[in-house]
Amino acid sequence: MKQTIVIAAMTAGMSLGVAGCNQDSEDGFDPLGAPAADGGDAADGGDAADGGDAADGGDADGGDGGSAGGQDALTPQQVRTYLSRIAPYLVGRSLTYEEGVLIDAQGEAVLYDIVEGWTGTPGFGDAIRYLIQTELHASGSAGGVDFELPGNLAYEVATQDLPWSTILTADYCVDELGAHIECDTGSPYTAGVLTTKAYLIPNKGRFNLSRAKLMLEVFACRIYPMEHEVQPPLEKDALIPMFQAENASEQTVEEAQGGFGNGQGCYTCHSQFGAHAQLFVRFDQDGNWRSDATGVQAVDDELGRSFDGLYASHFDDPLASANEQTQVFGQTVANLAEAAEVITDNRLFRECTVKNVLTHPFGLAAGVSDDVEEDLIGRLTDEVEAVSPDATIAEYVLEIFTDDQVVRTTLAGLEDEQ
Ligand code: HEC
Repeated sequence: MKQTIVIAAMTAGMSLGVAGCNQDSEDGFDPLGAPAADGGDAADGGDAADGGDAADGGDADGGDGGSAGGQDALTPQQVRTYLSRIAPYLVGRSLTYEEGVLIDAQGEAVLYDIVEGWTGTPGFGDAIRYLIQTELHASGSAGGVDFELPGNLAYEVATQDLPWSTILTADYCVDELGAHIECDTGSPYTAGVLTTKAYLIPNKGRFNLSRAKLMLEVFACRIYPMEHEVQPPLEKDALIPMFQAENASEQTVEEAQGGFGNGQGCYTCHSQFGAHAQLFVRFDQDGNWRSDATGVQAVDDELGRSFDGLYASHFDDPLASANEQTQVFGQTVANLAEAAEVITDNRLFRECTVKNVLTHPFGLAAGVSDDVEEDLIGRLTDEVEAVSPDATIAEYVLEIFTDDQVVRTTLAGLEDEQ
């Protein structure tokens, strides 16, 4: 039976039973490293057998590559197998001859050093560039827009050992030569990858919902509705009537009566969604920041559109709808840059980074999926936070991929495949 990093139904977030319009469909279960589907995620009891979290009491192993928890040391062949599996995703190549020699001579003792060595190379920067480009669906260039800006920033943050939060808080963009340049939206503030046309154009859409959704999904691993402790809902009467409805009979807007919601009131999700979508109200469909935006629904256009390529706000009051000020995770923010500070200060950002980094080499779904068990994410996040409250992506990678449970679970999965 396949071992997985996986397992366990997510608790808090997912038990809210998210099932509304445009529900995410990327939740398929992928066994660790295996192309074949196994479908047995709930049943395979992976955590009982892997001697991992239950036994080592959380942070006792210190992540130093030693054989923790009194288990047998890994054989050189196991170390080689494990590192060969993750190398392409972390450094863009296979193991070198020299690394093989080191592993044969020293076995598990060199695991940490080898991963640490990788994080200092350009190949690591490329791997992190690829991670961000995949998550944001942004690369290349088209129509005069440089879709590489997010990837360029990711490369710099990874190779210059900047805190990973810089990906959302940098007040500059990075060109293809690595020079700091102004970003391309014309906004009077900058929020890392978010204030790029590369983020805004592919994710444009009515009410700015897709822009808000991807931001929360990639950087907080949450979709709507989420826990009220994370995102307090907006007051009902602050919203346009369509989003106030808690059931069909409350729906006063004819176009919104069918098709949406799957039984859940619009207010359930859009009372949270609206707060985040507001951050994008001044960005038009071409990703340009517009001082003339009003957020007011255009009279003769489809729902969710404002005038001239801009999108409508969830806010009813015209003063509020024109204003980027809103509320993120319970804090008032003036604009997207302040929102990015709030998001990156939140524990969810760090947990989500762990999840994204961990799932990447194994083809598991990240975001809001429950492909990785919550306990593992929580423990790894604790360990990263102990290294630094604002860790570099290299620090994340080192904690995660030298973790005893991760190593052994991966190996068990690979051995199962043979
Ligand atoms: C379970 C959460 C949830 C509920 C309940 C919900 N929505 Fe949505 N709504 C979403 C999500 C998620 C999106 C998609 C965002 C995106 O484009 O990726 C969305 C998108 C929309 C859009 C934009 C569609 C488009 O094509 O861009 C409209 C309009 C909308 N919802 C209206 C409603 C109305 C009206 C109701 C109540 C009848 C409702 N929603 C209930 C979560 C929800």
